[in-house]
Amino acid sequence: MEDKIRVLLSEEEVNQRISEVAEKINKDYAGKAIHLICILKGGVFFTCELAKRLTMPVSLDFMSVSSYGDDTKSSGVVRIVKDLDESLKGKDVMIVEDIIDSGRTLSYLIEVLKQREPASIRLCTLLDKPERRVKKQVKVDYTCFQIPDEFVVGYGLDYAQKYRNLPFIGVVEL
Ligand code: IMP
Ligand code: MG
Repeated sequence: MEDKIRVLLSEEEVNQRISEVAEKINKDYAGKAIHLICILKGGVFFTCELAKRLTMPVSLDFMSVSSYGDDTKSSGVVRIVKDLDESLKGKDVMIVEDIIDSGRTLSYLIEVLKQREPASIRLCTLLDKPERRVKKQVKVDYTCFQIPDEFVVGYGLDYAQKYRNLPFIGVVEL
């Protein structure tokens, strides 16, 4: 059956905001190179759109962690499914996420990645649901949009692996 999807953020709004955030990153990282860590699978669309707008030297790596099954609720369990290919030593690292919800995934990941001796480590997210935060210590350096506590899809985000390819952010009307 087809789910009904309501547009929360249009493609134009999302792209416009990514350009603004990229400009800020370009200023903050002037004279440096940046090493982007894309959190699969949800972060992949945002990572590409962001990376295309960055003007400093950019390198990319990918990591996959699982904290959720095909469900809309957090299991609280974080597991590295695919680790990075490259060392982080001495690099200015930016973690790129689709959404920060409870913050469990990121609080775990940041601790793991800090031990690999990057020069710096920052966090950039397309969406943030601040109302849902359990791990209050997670500091988000760059946020495109803060959204209310609704389950969203599109622009990389899925509902049971569907709708990642939608070019906008939508709410599934269950
Ligand atoms: P956290 O560990 O609770 O912050 O969960 C972050 C992860 O949960 C994200 O990277 C998403 O994969 C998933 N997630 C949280 N909220 C949503 C949502 O509204 N739609 C789709 N996935 C979500
Ligand atoms: Mg994710």
